[in-house]
Amino acid sequence: MLDPNSSVPVIAIDGPSASGKGTVAQGVARALGFHYLDSGAIYRVLGLAALRAGVNLDNEADVFHVLLKINIGFVGDVVRLDSTDVTDAIREEAAGGAASKVGTHARVREALTEKQRAFRQPPGLVADGRDMGSVIFPDARLKIYLTASVEARAQRRYKQLIGKALNANMTALLQDIMLRDQRDSERAAAPLKKVADAVVLDTTNLTATQAMAEVLAHYHALRHAH
Ligand code: DC
Repeated sequence: MLDPNSSVPVIAIDGPSASGKGTVAQGVARALGFHYLDSGAIYRVLGLAALRAGVNLDNEADVFHVLLKINIGFVGDVVRLDSTDVTDAIREEAAGGAASKVGTHARVREALTEKQRAFRQPPGLVADGRDMGSVIFPDARLKIYLTASVEARAQRRYKQLIGKALNANMTALLQDIMLRDQRDSERAAAPLKKVADAVVLDTTNLTATQAMAEVLAHYHALRHAH
């Protein structure tokens, strides 16, 4: 079926863990008055649900079964697993690691495709994740590959966790991020990669505000070129 929203502009922002995608994507969405899709949150809710259900995260059929039983909801900034508010719980490292594992399963990714595409609503969408530009919105008007050094990313995640009064350990964070990078980019199903038509933005030495301004400048430049 032809997607009635296929003309709605999408800005796809992909990149590794803790590269600042969320902050940048949300800021860009706010500046343009666009909707925002945090695709990682969907995988995090499923990861958390699978952890709570005690299933083997590496078993595709088991994880798929969990997905069929749960309801993943977004109400404003609140993320729900069935009727429970899991907004904070999904930000813990355990949920992130579980998300990366459940995200390796092709059947799971396929089942989540439509849910993600449904966020494409006028006047536009900023989508952040690993496969936004490659698989979910291959026709995105602008594709950004947002990255930063492993050290800078670990430092940011550390501050984020401490800011939320959650436990954080720098050495463990570094290891976790490197492991996650490897799993997300080496999996067979929709791996994290820079697509040919993406603009690379290295934020190691940029503030979030500067990174947002760069993305907006690229978007406006495109619009003027058309
Ligand atoms: O962006 P994030 O850190 O919230 O994502 C958590 C994990 O979810 C990430 O390590 C891999 C998985 N993920 C994915 O497989 N595909 C996406 N589009 C987004 C996240």
